[in-house]
Amino acid sequence: LRVAVLISGRGSNMAALIEAAADPDYPAEIGLVLSNRPDAAGLARAAEAGLATAVVDHRAYADRAAFEAALDARLVEAGIEFVCLAGFMRLLTDGFVERWRDRMINIHPSLLPSFPGLHTHERAIAAGVKLHGCTVHFVRTEMDSGPIIAQAAVPVAPGDTPDTLGARVLKAEHGLYPLALALVAGGLVEVRGDVTTVIEGLP
Ligand code: GRF
Repeated sequence: LRVAVLISGRGSNMAALIEAAADPDYPAEIGLVLSNRPDAAGLARAAEAGLATAVVDHRAYADRAAFEAALDARLVEAGIEFVCLAGFMRLLTDGFVERWRDRMINIHPSLLPSFPGLHTHERAIAAGVKLHGCTVHFVRTEMDSGPIIAQAAVPVAPGDTPDTLGARVLKAEHGLYPLALALVAGGLVEVRGDVTTVIEGLP
């Protein structure tokens, strides 16, 4: 499966996917790393790994539709079949989401459906939850919603700050995203309505 990873910043999840995909037995290959921000640190990292990179700067387009048309064109041009959002900080419209329906996944730093949106670690601490974590899900129009593919939980420790908790979650993300992509790329995930079934193969 030929995959594009879409980023806006640091790209640590992208790096985890790159590392996993370097294994010849991994069922997906990364055909493109694309950022909407020219200064995204992840771009240099991807180039170092010898991957094709692209920038589609949203500020260069009049509206979301024009930006997304350019985005889509780059993906098609690169022969991309599947999209992984990894810290990609642009909301996507219905048109783009529908076009990539069940062919686009995202990682979110909470156990969805708890804490969609930003500042998830701060909000988890404020809510007093004792388990927090991360979710990989198919993308639907509503932000941070869509059929859940896989989740990883981490404990919230007494005295955690958003930073210490966030670091624990991020470590879990780096394990979870390559696993979730492997399940989907391996054809092991079936989408039925709002939920997925993992047919087999969860370790
Ligand atoms: C991650 O926490 C991811 O879950 C969220 O944005 C952050 C991106 O970090 N969507 P990185 O760019 O992958 O390091």
